[in-house]
Amino acid sequence: MRVVEEDLLPSTPGKVKVERPGTMSRHLHRCFASTGTMFLWALFLVAMTATYLSVHSFVDTSSRYFTASWGGLHWERQIRSSASPRRPPGSAEGAGLSVLVTGAAGFVGTHCALALRRRGDGVVGIDNFNSYYDPSLKKARRALLGSHGVFVVEGDVNDGRLLAKLFDVVPFTHVLHLAAQAGVRYAMENPASYVHSNVAGLVSLLEACKDADPQPAVVWASSSSVYGLNDRVPFSEAHRTDRPASLYAATKKAGEEITHTYNHIYGLSVTGLRFFTVYGPWGRPDMAYFSFTRNILQGKPITVYRGRDHVDLARDFTYIDDIVRGCLASLDTAGRSTGTGGKKRGPAPYRIFNLGNTSPVTVPTLVAILERYLRVKAKKNVIEMPGNGDVPYTHANISLAREQLGYKPTTSLEMGLKKFVRWYLSYYGYNRGTHTFRNS
Ligand SMILES: NC(=O)c1ccc[n+]([C@@H]2O[C@H](COP(=O)([O-])OP(=O)(O)OC[C@H]3O[C@@H](n4cnc5c(N)ncnc54)[C@H](O)[C@@H]3O)[C@@H](O)[C@H]2O)c1
Repeated sequence: MRVVEEDLLPSTPGKVKVERPGTMSRHLHRCFASTGTMFLWALFLVAMTATYLSVHSFVDTSSRYFTASWGGLHWERQIRSSASPRRPPGSAEGAGLSVLVTGAAGFVGTHCALALRRRGDGVVGIDNFNSYYDPSLKKARRALLGSHGVFVVEGDVNDGRLLAKLFDVVPFTHVLHLAAQAGVRYAMENPASYVHSNVAGLVSLLEACKDADPQPAVVWASSSSVYGLNDRVPFSEAHRTDRPASLYAATKKAGEEITHTYNHIYGLSVTGLRFFTVYGPWGRPDMAYFSFTRNILQGKPITVYRGRDHVDLARDFTYIDDIVRGCLASLDTAGRSTGTGGKKRGPAPYRIFNLGNTSPVTVPTLVAILERYLRVKAKKNVIEMPGNGDVPYTHANISLAREQLGYKPTTSLEMGLKKFVRWYLSYYGYNRGTHTFRNS
């Protein structure tokens, strides 16, 4: 018995015992000596094949994220040209930034990239054009950016090789990181997408930033959702954020901790922005104001959630142009990163700001404003808010952003929705006479 054990097991874990001549045929003979053992061997082979196939399909799936074509001289020329600041020499605003905008084909990303380009900064975008919502809207935004000379690379922020290449081609002064899996409710359907983009993708981006020479300053989008179950209002940066109500919120909170680590160890300059319900033209179709508009125009009912005890939900709706001003002010005031070669040379700024409107509006009021601009009455289906991660109320205290960024929102929900509806009707080609859409 002892001899058999010695023959079958490697002498040292991890090492393979050298076979003696004739040992193999003895093994085979022993192994196939009974039907029971044969059955076990068959099972083993099936398991090996299944493992091979599943590993193969995993590699295939993950490589799908990174198959977008990039590289080559022409591509590098496009990147360099898009990244070059175009402010006139000696202009009052200074030399001009060179900004990598992630999530550039997204709602906020497109507006920020355009605003940067308009004032003469260099901008390169990156976006994976995922299908969380209609990718044709993202492509239309990319076309808009292209017409203003902003190049958007199709790629995933998890692709470290692509990010390293971008930093190799351009010494970006700033990164505006907006790429994320957004939406609170979708987290119950596809939790992995939040980990992929908001946690793994963020780390991948920060790794590239910390390795870059010079290191850029990073401004990134956190969210008002980090306030979670906090019920002190208005929400201030000093309040608790350790009780998230959704996986989305938890990944944004994790992002705040992760960015702090990179600031602490590698000297990256970091500014986290907690946006409060951003809305406006070119907005996100998954958000209530957008889907309400579509349904109202199509004569379909809309679902309006109500809080406990029949209390209306309210949001601190913030118009996109105000958010863009907050983002640009954050880029302009971000201090330098201090690291080189992955080592910190001194402390770098770490900041967090609320960017809201400071005037919450209830959802029924939002619907009433839309009805007025659309000239159609909504069919409302009012139900109690299910436990899906939404919170009943948001309200930003923006004193810190006002003091340090000069942030001052100026657009009321009335005015902002008017601009949104005008854009919506023209983008989707809605004909008020026939109640039909040209492009839907
Ligand atoms: N819009 C809001 O009300 C709001 C509120 C709070 C926070 N935020 C945050 O602001 C940022 C911008 O939001 P938005 O409303 O423009 O959302 P959006 O979905 O329109 O934009 C995000 C973009 O990132 C891209 N993206 C996602 N994962 C990616 C990845 N792994 N690699 C590359 N690209 C990827 C998407 O394709 C999308 O175009 C997000 O970080 C979001 O979480 C938005």
